[in-house]
Amino acid sequence: MKVLVVGSGGREHAICYKLAQSRRVTEIFCAPGNGGIASIATCVDIKANEVDKLTQYAVNGKFDLVFVAPEDPLALGLVDKLEANGIRAFGPSAAAAVIEASKAFSKNLMRKYNIPTAKYELFDDEAAALKYLDTQKAPIVIKCDGLALGKGVIIAQTIEEAKAAVNSMMADKKFGSAGNTVVIEECMTGPELTVLAFADGNKAVAMISSRDHKRALDHDEGLNTGGMGAVTPGAELSCEDNRRINDEIIVPTIEALKKEGRPFKGVIYFGLMLTEEGPKVVEYNCRFGDPETQAILPRLETDFMDIIDCCIGGGIDKLDIRWKPCCSCVVVMASGGYPESYAKGYEITGISTCGKLVFQAGTKLMPDGTLVTSGGRVLCVYGEGSTPDEAIDGAYEGVSKISFKDMHYRHDIGRTLGSKA
Ligand code: AMP
Ligand code: GLY
Repeated sequence: MKVLVVGSGGREHAICYKLAQSRRVTEIFCAPGNGGIASIATCVDIKANEVDKLTQYAVNGKFDLVFVAPEDPLALGLVDKLEANGIRAFGPSAAAAVIEASKAFSKNLMRKYNIPTAKYELFDDEAAALKYLDTQKAPIVIKCDGLALGKGVIIAQTIEEAKAAVNSMMADKKFGSAGNTVVIEECMTGPELTVLAFADGNKAVAMISSRDHKRALDHDEGLNTGGMGAVTPGAELSCEDNRRINDEIIVPTIEALKKEGRPFKGVIYFGLMLTEEGPKVVEYNCRFGDPETQAILPRLETDFMDIIDCCIGGGIDKLDIRWKPCCSCVVVMASGGYPESYAKGYEITGISTCGKLVFQAGTKLMPDGTLVTSGGRVLCVYGEGSTPDEAIDGAYEGVSKISFKDMHYRHDIGRTLGSKA
C-alpha cells in the first residue's frame, strides 16, 4: 500500500515509524514531514492545512490511504474532501472533528448526553460574561471556544484575573475569532489522564492510558506548551476506574456523536480528570495527542494498518489489539525560549549513537547531511522498561547523549503528576 501521512511533528514521525513496520505498507510519503521523517518516508513540500493541494496530490499519486494527523486539516474537512475524490482517508469528518474545534459544541454535547464534565456557562456577549463572573468564586476557568493551539485556557485564581481573561479573549481578540464565544467553567481538581481510543463510528476501543506534562519547567512551572513529555501507563487505574471511563465517558460520547449525525471515525482523545466524584472530561480532541502518541505507538504490537482498516470500515471492537506489556516514557528536547521566541538552525548531534528511539519534530536535514533545529519542540526521546522508573531513566539516558545549542528539557517527566495547566 502507498500511504500519505499529513503533518510534521513528533507525533507524525511516530505514525510513520509504526506504518513502516506494517507488513502491508510498501511506500510512505509525508506532507510536509521533517528531518527525521525523511529517513523513513518521502517528504512532500505541501503544508498540512493546504487542503486542496493535498487532495490533488493524493489523487494524482493514486494513494491507497491518507492519514490525517493534525486538528487543523481535520477541522477544514480534508477527510471529507479526500473521500469525495475517491481516496480512503483516516480521521474524522469535519462534522465529527468539531468536538475539538468548538468547545461550545463539546460542552453542550456533554450536557445533552449526561457525560460528566465541569459545570459551565457559554457567553458570546462580554458584558454578560463579566456580570456572570460577579456571581462566581475563584478559582474559575475561562476557555475560548475555538482552536487556539492549547493556549486559550486560563485557570484564573481571582475573579479579577478571570475578567481580564474574558476581556483579552472577547474585546482584544487575543485568539482571533476563536474567542468570539467563551466558556466559563468550574475548576476541577485531581490527577489528569489521557485516554485515546480507536473509533469506527459505532464503537471505540481504548488504547493504553497516558499522561502528558504541559508546563515548560520542572515541578509544573512556567508557561503552557504543546507538551514536554509523556508516560504510559498514565495512572494505576482500578477495574472500577476503567469501567467508569468506558461506560460513563467513551461509550456515551461515541453514541452521542452517532445520534447527532456525526459518527466519529479515527482516534478520539479524552483529556480526563480523576476527581473525587469520578472521572470527568476536561477536553476532547479529534486526533492522536502529541507527545502521548510517541509514548504509546512503540508499544503497539498489532499491525497498525489492520486497526486503520477497522476504523474506516467497521469492526474495531472485534479486532484483537495487543500492547507490549511494559512502561514507556518520552522526554521532549526543546529549543531554549520555547514556547515563546527561540532561535533555529543549530546543529543536533548524538541521535544515532544515543541507543534510544528518537522521534523528531522541529528538525531539518540540510543538503550537506547535517541535522539542524527548526522548531520549538525539537526531539522526543523514548525509553521503555518493566517499571515506570526504568522507562524514565532510559529516556533520560538517551537525552544525556544528545546535544544542540540552548537545548531545554524537563528533568522530572513521569516523576510528578504532570498536566497542570
Ligand atoms: P484544555 O485545552 O481544555 O484541555 O485545557 C488545558 C488544560 O487546562 C487541561 O489539561 C487542564 O490541566 C486545565 N483545565 C482545563 N479545564 C479545567 C477545569 N475545568 N478545571 C481544572 N483544570 C482545567
Ligand atoms: N498533548 C496534548 C495534545 O496533543 O493536545
